[in-house]
Amino acid sequence: NLLFDMDIQTQSISDRLSGAPLPRHIAIIMDGNGRWAKQRSLPRSAGHYEGVTSVRRATELCSDTGVGFLTLYAFSTENWNRPQEEVDTLMTLIGMAIERETPDLVRNNVRLRLIGDIERMPADARDRLERCRQATSHCSGLTLSLCLSYSSRWEIAEAARRLARLAADGSISADEIDEEAVEAGLATSGMPAPDLLIRTGGEKRLSNFLLWQAAYAELYFTDTLWPDFGKEALADAMADFQCRERRFGRTSEQVEADTAFQADS
Ligand code: FPP
Repeated sequence: NLLFDMDIQTQSISDRLSGAPLPRHIAIIMDGNGRWAKQRSLPRSAGHYEGVTSVRRATELCSDTGVGFLTLYAFSTENWNRPQEEVDTLMTLIGMAIERETPDLVRNNVRLRLIGDIERMPADARDRLERCRQATSHCSGLTLSLCLSYSSRWEIAEAARRLARLAADGSISADEIDEEAVEAGLATSGMPAPDLLIRTGGEKRLSNFLLWQAAYAELYFTDTLWPDFGKEALADAMADFQCRERRFGRTSEQVEADTAFQADS
């Protein structure tokens, strides 16, 4: 019984991660679909198709373990430059997958958030995504953010444009523009910054993803290709996060004193 097995797996992962706080917000650069397909002499689209399964597994595990936010880099601004056929396949796949998963998302209290220049998406995929967003807008569990037609520099430039408009019409003065004001204009506004940023597929770079928000994120790179990235692999990343000391610019001694104080009170 597959469902029963999955529950046991999730239970054992929860037990394994119970010793320390989990990340509140996990962001993932899902890389390696193309190579996964190539290794099997399959078309790249087969890798993307299989990648949807990993999206499902990651969403399930985050939802079941009480992670508040999962943010996935599904399609970058730069991805528009891929061969038209691959772009079309990805758009169709994303639209279909999100429509198919909507009832399960609702059942699991997962809310969909869309991040990026969604206007650039083909109407059909955009409509399906928008319907899922509306159908899950009341959900209060995991927030699943899909970054689509997204790039961090695009987002920061958007925030700057917004502030310039506010300044031009006199609703804000230049001196009032602080980090909070910039953040309010980002597509992620209202969410905590990612604590853990994962990239699969072996590359070690951020590729224009959440550059502002990841200022203090713990980075985790794995060679595992995205379609092979299952619940155990995600649990490994979460366990690795639990071993990191997050100092936010302070000294180790300050962090330890603080932790001792928190344990006392
Ligand atoms: C990177 O692999 C992956 C993408 C550009 C697309 C990721 C999209 C999905 C997994 C589908 C998402 C679906 C939903 C419902 C959100 P790559 O093609 O760059 O792989 P390569 O580096 O091996 O070529």
